[in-house]
Amino acid sequence: MTETVLVVGASGYLGRSVAWRLREGADRDERRVLGTYCSEPGPTAEVAFDFWTDDAGELVDEHGVDTVVFAAAVEYGGDADTGESGVGATFAERAERFAAGVSDARVVYVSSASVFDGTGSRYVESDPRSPRDDYGRRLVAFEDAIDARCDDAATVRTSYLFGFSTGRLDRRLARTRDHLDRGESVAYFTDMYKSPVLVTEAAETVAALVDGDATGVVHVPTPRVSVYDFHCEAMAALGHDPGPIERDSIPDDMDVAPDTSLASERFDSLVDFEPSAVGEGLRSQVDADESE
Ligand SMILES: NC(=O)c1ccc[n+]([C@@H]2O[C@H](COP(=O)([O-])OP(=O)(O)OC[C@H]3O[C@@H](n4cnc5c(N)ncnc54)[C@H](OP(=O)(O)O)[C@@H]3O)[C@@H](O)[C@H]2O)c1
Repeated sequence: MTETVLVVGASGYLGRSVAWRLREGADRDERRVLGTYCSEPGPTAEVAFDFWTDDAGELVDEHGVDTVVFAAAVEYGGDADTGESGVGATFAERAERFAAGVSDARVVYVSSASVFDGTGSRYVESDPRSPRDDYGRRLVAFEDAIDARCDDAATVRTSYLFGFSTGRLDRRLARTRDHLDRGESVAYFTDMYKSPVLVTEAAETVAALVDGDATGVVHVPTPRVSVYDFHCEAMAALGHDPGPIERDSIPDDMDVAPDTSLASERFDSLVDFEPSAVGEGLRSQVDADESE
C-alpha cells in the first residue's frame, strides 16, 4: 500500500531537504510525498496551506495522508503576543486546531533548542523546558498541542541548521560569506553556544522518525561550538579565509540565551548515523557537489 506523507513547509529551507529526502528514499509506489507552501510554491511544494487560516484536517482527509511532518516556521507570524503567558491565544488555538486535524496520522514535529533558556548547557530531552522569549513559548505551545492531541507523534529539536539545502546555503552562513566576499568585517559571540546541525542530517533524522515508530522528543546532538567558531569553521570549509571574522561577547544588557547546545539520551538508539561537526559536515557537502 502506498504511504502518503504530507510535509508542511516544504518550500522552506529545512522542508525542501525533508521532502527531497523522503522522495529519494522510497519507490513512488511505496510512498507519495506532498509538500505545502504558504507564499512560494516550488518543486517540492505544490499544495497551498496557511497555518493561520487553513484546516490541516481537510488536507489529511482530501489526500489520505498517513504521516504529517511539520517543518514550517509559523511562530513569528499572525497575531501579536498578548496575555500573561506571553503566548498569543490565537497561536495556541491554531496549534491545537492543527494538532486535532492531524491526530489520526503519524506526526513528526520540528521544534528547536529555543524551548530552553540557555542558562544550562548540553540539554537532554528530559530537561525541563524554560523558554525565554515568545518564539520559545510558541514552540512549547505547539509541542504541548501535539503531545496532547496526537498519540503517534515524535518531536525533533535541533539547534542552528546549516549547510546546503537543495543547493542553497542557509541564511546565516550566506550572510557571513557575503560580508567576507565584500571585504567587510563581521563579528560573532565567542560566549554563545549552539549545537549546529547539517540541514541534510536534520532531514535524515526526520526521515528516520517518519519510517520508525518512536514517539516523544528527540534531540539532534552535535558538538557544542560558539557562534564565532561556527562561522569560522564553516567559512574555512567553504574555502574562505575566516581571519577577518572578529570576536565579540554578549553585551551585559542583551537578553539572549547563552548556551542552547543539545545532547541526547536517545538519538543513537533511533537514528543510525552520527551527526557531523560543522566543518566536517559542510566539507562533505562541498566534496559531494564537486564529485557530481
Ligand atoms: N533554521 C534554523 O536554524 C532552525 C533551527 C532550529 C529549528 N528550526 C525550526 O525548523 C523549522 C523550519 O525552519 P526553516 O529555517 O526551514 O524556515 P524557513 O526557511 O523560513 O521555512 C519556512 C517554511 O514555513 C512556511 N510557512 C511560513 N509561514 C507559514 C504559514 N503561516 N503557514 C504554513 N506554512 C508557513 C514557508 O512557506 P513559504 O516560504 O511558501 O511562505 C516555508 O515553507 C521552524 O519551525 C524552525 O523553528 C529551524
